[in-house]
Amino acid sequence: MQRMQDDIVDVLYSEEELKTKVAELGARITRDYEGKNLLLVAVLKGAVVFLTDLMRSIDLPAEIDFMVVSSYGTGVKSSGVVKIIKDLDTPVEGRDVLVVEDILDSGLTLSYIKGILQDRHPASIRIVTLLDKPSRRKAALYADYSGYEVPDEFVVGYGLDYNERYRNLPYIGILKPEVYSS
Ligand code: IMP
Ligand code: MG
Repeated sequence: MQRMQDDIVDVLYSEEELKTKVAELGARITRDYEGKNLLLVAVLKGAVVFLTDLMRSIDLPAEIDFMVVSSYGTGVKSSGVVKIIKDLDTPVEGRDVLVVEDILDSGLTLSYIKGILQDRHPASIRIVTLLDKPSRRKAALYADYSGYEVPDEFVVGYGLDYNERYRNLPYIGILKPEVYSS
């Protein structure tokens, strides 16, 4: 039998740890967005698992919407060139937009998306990311809320993929280098 587990060197964050962390982030967001007009924007597909957990730990009226972008290439590195495949359905003018990301790496993708949204005059725009790899940042971009700082290793699970796989692992793990070097 093929097991995803066999391709993982190490579990970085267990299901339990993730649950606690996401609840903490949700509680902070709930405090900060009291009385605001919250719109959660997730960039598909990686942020989906995080979004579905996070939104249930935000105890405020909120809407969700999705964007699909392609960053040209399905491999390990992002090129920073982004094309919008599916735009938001919701107008963001006057909304308090919170962009929900799985991982902030070079920041190039998100910096581009943030620019596009900013041009639409939201009341505010912030970023929540579950994982942050600050050592790899190329764009001047920071997360307003961040779950964990991760080392420069390729991680998968909880929405994060390698070549579209491993997204359904319930924990975050480090992929064996031989999986992506072969
Ligand atoms: P950035 O534009 O370099 O910040 O790219 C961010 C995107 O690259 C994320 O949304 C992920 O899809 C992908 N990515 C970056 N690092 C990893 C990783 O360690 N595992 C899985 N995907 C990653
Ligand atoms: Mg990806």
